[in-house]
Amino acid sequence: MGSLRRLRVLAVVLVLIAAACSESPANAQRPPPGVCAALGSPLIGHDGHIMACSGKNLVAFERNGSTAWIAPLGHTCKEDISPVAEGEEIYLVAEDKVIKITPKKLHTADPPSEVFFSYNSTPGRSEEIIGLATSGVYSSLLVTIRNRGLFSFSLRTGLQWSAGPMLAYFDCRLGCKTNISGCYFISAPVVDQWEETVYLSNTEGKLYSLYIRSG
Ligand SMILES: *[C@@H]1O[C@H](CO)[C@@H](O)[C@H](O)[C@H]1NC(C)=O
Ligand SMILES: *[C@@H]1O[C@H](CO)[C@@H](O)[C@H](O)[C@H]1NC(C)=O
Repeated sequence: MGSLRRLRVLAVVLVLIAAACSESPANAQRPPPGVCAALGSPLIGHDGHIMACSGKNLVAFERNGSTAWIAPLGHTCKEDISPVAEGEEIYLVAEDKVIKITPKKLHTADPPSEVFFSYNSTPGRSEEIIGLATSGVYSSLLVTIRNRGLFSFSLRTGLQWSAGPMLAYFDCRLGCKTNISGCYFISAPVVDQWEETVYLSNTEGKLYSLYIRSG
């Protein structure tokens, strides 16, 4: 089942790469140079567009493979992390930032992309963003940062809570039992179907569940 789904996603990506690189007259709106270089992990938006980042752009495709729109990001996106959609906005990872894209603003005076969140990584430490998830119920964006932890942002008011892999239950240390300095969250956050709980794992193979409301 999982591999079938992966194959389907791969097939879609391959079709999209072909479409993005196509020079046939049917594909009248040709993407700018560089867009056909590589497409990142795709997202199917609420409006049915298939979106994938490419270099410094987010490209949205119609179901027939033609390009619906291209939003400039101003930063180089991370192609291995799928964008996420919440309401009318799309969030994706570019360099050490989370960029918010509002497609509605594409043909207005407002810029369609803005930096939603940015951090300064500690020199000498590997602290890149590992993954993203959203919860519509709590209107929040969850971000895992390697060596830092899990961060929950309200989409309107900013940071709500953060959590590290070292949890204590009274005097008992849970998680990170063998090597504290090398222990961190290593997976993207995964939100359950009821949007109550977020799951993620650490470098020691422990699975965590946290309430999205409170961490
Ligand atoms: C692809 O679909 C879009 C939206 O439905 C439509 O506007 C466009 O003409 C179609 N292009 C081709 C080549 O069929
Ligand atoms: C703990 O992890 C750190 C960072 O990965 C590593 O440098 C160190 O050797 C590890 N220590 C032990 C005792 O495994």
